[in-house]
Amino acid sequence: MERKIDGELAVVLSSVSIACKRIASLVQKAGISGMTGAAGAVNVQGEDQKKLDVVSNEIFCEVLRTSGRTGVIASEEEDTPVAVEETYNGNYVVVFDPLDGSSNIDAAVSTGSIFGVYSSDQSCVPDWGADDEGVVQEKCITNVCQPGNNLLAAGYCMYSSSCILMLTVGHGVYGFTLDPSIGEFVLSHEDVKIPEKGKIYSFNEGNYVNWEPGLKEYMDALKKGGHTEDGKPYSARYIGSLVGDFHRTMLYGGIYGYPGDAKNANGKLRLLYECAPMSFIAEQAGGMGSTGRGRVLDIRPEEVHQRVPFYTGSREEVQYLESFLQEA
Ligand code: AHG
Ligand code: MN
Ligand code: MN
Ligand code: MN
Repeated sequence: MERKIDGELAVVLSSVSIACKRIASLVQKAGISGMTGAAGAVNVQGEDQKKLDVVSNEIFCEVLRTSGRTGVIASEEEDTPVAVEETYNGNYVVVFDPLDGSSNIDAAVSTGSIFGVYSSDQSCVPDWGADDEGVVQEKCITNVCQPGNNLLAAGYCMYSSSCILMLTVGHGVYGFTLDPSIGEFVLSHEDVKIPEKGKIYSFNEGNYVNWEPGLKEYMDALKKGGHTEDGKPYSARYIGSLVGDFHRTMLYGGIYGYPGDAKNANGKLRLLYECAPMSFIAEQAGGMGSTGRGRVLDIRPEEVHQRVPFYTGSREEVQYLESFLQEA
């Protein structure tokens, strides 16, 4: 798909980077600014929202609204897509997870933001006359629920020992590290490529008992050295933040997975604003984004918060995992 990259998109991406800087600042001082702990509300996912989930979402909505280029957004923290323009003229749809791994906030473990940008089919015009202002018509849902193949841009910002914004506009993946002394993102990772193989797996093995047999066989093979020339087992690394686990996988290689299981057939991660943007980034870096039985970017979401099983990382590692599931 030939992606149109123009100045208008740059305005959207610039506004996203401002949101990331603002969130990074709040995360850094969460413990001394009363920004830890729960917000006291439950989101559409059924999760207890953290205070920073809510504030990060408000920041993204505000910067996208003031960008003047965004028509509709979909967020993990919004029940339905929201029109962010009073006079709707936005050229873009922006999907985002404003704070990923938010359960880690109180322990100051890495968190992040994830975003994706689509062009808008302009069919979606909010019905401002409706009682519930900003009510988004059905077609706005369609406008938002696009397959990842349509993504014009995707990225994540990791709030960790350093703040790193990773971005692709369809021509490779580039990383920018925030220099706090000047408040600017500085190029630090050029044309990132995921190592073809990697001996690290990143799964929540607490769910092992509920996994399908093929997946258990796969995990047992990794742990018994069944997939290395020297017969050594893989190492496990899992911090419970997709952004942190994904970023390590991007740089060191290996595989991250959040499988479906007996309790949650589609797993936990959301297709539209977690798995599709991360898959676009992974593929642009030479890796893969898979449901275990197919390519994530090919899936058109049926609803905004749809979940899918998700495996991503080194091409060879994801293909090895798929070989255990496709047999099933
Ligand atoms: P979020 O904080 O945006 O709701 O996402 C949390 C996700 C993801 O970041 C992480 O990999 C996964 O949940 C961890 O889930 P478990 O605690 O079930 O392992
Ligand atoms: Mn959440
Ligand atoms: Mn998340
Ligand atoms: Mn989140």
